[in-house]
Amino acid sequence: MTLFESVFAGNDAVYGLTEGAINQAIEKYGADKAVSFPDTAYSLPCYYAVTGTKVGTLAELKDALAVVKTLMTREKRTNDVFMSGVATALCAEFIEVLKYIDGAVPYEAPCYGHLADAVIRELGVPLVTGDIPGVAVILGKAPSAQEAADLVKSYQSQGILITLVGDVIDQLEEVGYKTGANVRVIPLGKDVTAVIHVVSVALRAALIFGNVKPGDAATLMDYTMKRVPAFVNAFAPLNDVIVACGAGAIALGFPVITNQEDVARVPKSLICQKDISKWNATSLEARDIKIKITNIDIPVAFASAFEGEIIRRKDMQVEFDGSRVDCAELVHTCDASEVEDHKITVVGPEVDDMELGSKNSIAYVVKVAGKNMQPDFEPVIERKFHNYINCIEGVYHTGQRDMQRIRISKDAFAAGFKIKHIGEVLYTQVKNEFDAVVDKCEVTIYTDPAECTRIRHEVAIPIFEKRDDRLNTLTDESVDVYYSCILCQAFSPSHVCVVTPERLGLCGAVSWLDAKATHELDPNGPCQVITKERPIDENLGSYEDVDEAVKKLSQGALEHVTLYSIMQDPMTSCGCFECICGIEPFSNGVVIANREYAGMTPLGMTFSEMASMTGGGVQTPGFMGHGKHFISSKKFMKAEGGIERIVWMPKELKEFVAERLNNTAKELYGIENFTDMIGDETIATDPETLVGFLTEKGHPALALDPMM
Ligand code: SF4
Ligand code: NI
Ligand code: NI
Repeated sequence: MTLFESVFAGNDAVYGLTEGAINQAIEKYGADKAVSFPDTAYSLPCYYAVTGTKVGTLAELKDALAVVKTLMTREKRTNDVFMSGVATALCAEFIEVLKYIDGAVPYEAPCYGHLADAVIRELGVPLVTGDIPGVAVILGKAPSAQEAADLVKSYQSQGILITLVGDVIDQLEEVGYKTGANVRVIPLGKDVTAVIHVVSVALRAALIFGNVKPGDAATLMDYTMKRVPAFVNAFAPLNDVIVACGAGAIALGFPVITNQEDVARVPKSLICQKDISKWNATSLEARDIKIKITNIDIPVAFASAFEGEIIRRKDMQVEFDGSRVDCAELVHTCDASEVEDHKITVVGPEVDDMELGSKNSIAYVVKVAGKNMQPDFEPVIERKFHNYINCIEGVYHTGQRDMQRIRISKDAFAAGFKIKHIGEVLYTQVKNEFDAVVDKCEVTIYTDPAECTRIRHEVAIPIFEKRDDRLNTLTDESVDVYYSCILCQAFSPSHVCVVTPERLGLCGAVSWLDAKATHELDPNGPCQVITKERPIDENLGSYEDVDEAVKKLSQGALEHVTLYSIMQDPMTSCGCFECICGIEPFSNGVVIANREYAGMTPLGMTFSEMASMTGGGVQTPGFMGHGKHFISSKKFMKAEGGIERIVWMPKELKEFVAERLNNTAKELYGIENFTDMIGDETIATDPETLVGFLTEKGHPALALDPMM
């Protein structure tokens, strides 16, 4: 069979199955039955992205199938093949959505099935920073379970996000390979139609970050081709259905690598590579993915994919716990003469000398020296320690400063991992990532309890206190410049964050100090200086300098941006914001939802739905994405009255920001325990109940002017 015949036959087969499944569902449930995927604001995301039409019922699904049929032309031209591929993918989405009728939970561990919008938003930053350099879609059954595991491991150790479809999932289970979103290995489902769940991620990325208009299929495919670094690895034997799905992948710009020999080859798109151990290299080359290589001299792997790895008590060799015993982590700027480069010292017992399962002290001091080093960069480097130590396979790190907690797994210990290797990791990464400011770096790790107590109380805490004082005096007024960040332009081409001391980037990961350090490290990089010499309106936070900068950096897409208003020329959102706030008209206030919150808000929208109101680098007055820490800022929608407009937040978020928010409210308005006046999901998820609660509490927003 030719490639044409194969794709058409596969497409026809899937179409037939879909038609049957929809008819059967209508017979069973009636045509008005609702159909939807959970936790998405984009209906059936693939169909919506391609056609611009939202499907909500079985009757509409049937109409949609008729539209899909129009894509299934049978001329032997390339475009017909691609469109049949897309039609196959859409049919797969229809088959998959039927599994979710009546709130069913069709997938169970280890499989994920449909992925929520929030998952995609979370991927934004690691994708733009190259922390996740690509997305692999592995499909079918490997010749042996070991080959499957080796292939997955090869991608995992490069930080690539891996999705699995079909028998390969069982093969990994067979050899006890750990999977899960936290280690970037995501089994989607065992039916081939489950592949749509990763296509859905790619297409929603275009809607969320790229501001692609649903229904603009040409722009959509251009976006996925240029910006979504995905590729497919399909094990032989390929049947017609898989070949038809492959045509869909190629239409989106994702090359397919297979070991099936008799398949027609399409240069750079459909590639036969018999040797599976070469798939990694072949795939990266075909998709033009570059991997940053970090060679660190430690006995276990080091890769960003291990950042989310969790080590349970039963799997741990030893732990260090700053909440129970004295611990600290510290970067200390010293004179070059005081630092011996690459010297790593352990003062106290090594892991071998510690009892199995014991809780110990640890304190590491990283001395750095460099002509361009500034004390302001110390906390920026220090905050990266969490990421560095977490990337070690079999080592887990949470917290910071003197409250960190580290676990070393039995597996890592058995592989020969020692305390001194933590020093090796810190040294290598600090030198790698901060080479523009750090010329010399030396690490001392204390495990001797008395030394840890001394370091914590006599060295670290006084430094932390000095830094906090400096941070408290860092206000928008006290600095001469702000910074831009355009990292997210990789996905949101016209988005610009303006980062100020009192307003961090909306992803929550870039503070003014971070931006300053990024600028110092890479003067032509994503963070540029924005002067603030020509204010237009200080209350709005508008400046001619800021307008000029965003106009230039957005290539003319934006003309005016204010720093402190959500109504007038608000800052744009890319899509990876930690929180979204939106106007609640009945109370003259705003509702804030964080990405982790899956429930309903009094706006009648979930986080995903609120989030879909903005993004892609466009301005949407009334809705604004922002970081969690911005909530307690004195500059939070200052132009509209500030934080006293906040009327509702999910309970968990409220607790997270309570201390700082209450302090700000006390300082600005003299209100004690402001968070007690703010509603949450245990109090109200509809506006009437919320207003009743706010009235009872005497919430200040009720007395303010309407915002619209
Ligand atoms: Fe993206 Fe803004 Fe965060 Fe930069 S600060 S990474 S542009 S969200
Ligand atoms: Ni010193
Ligand atoms: Ni972003």
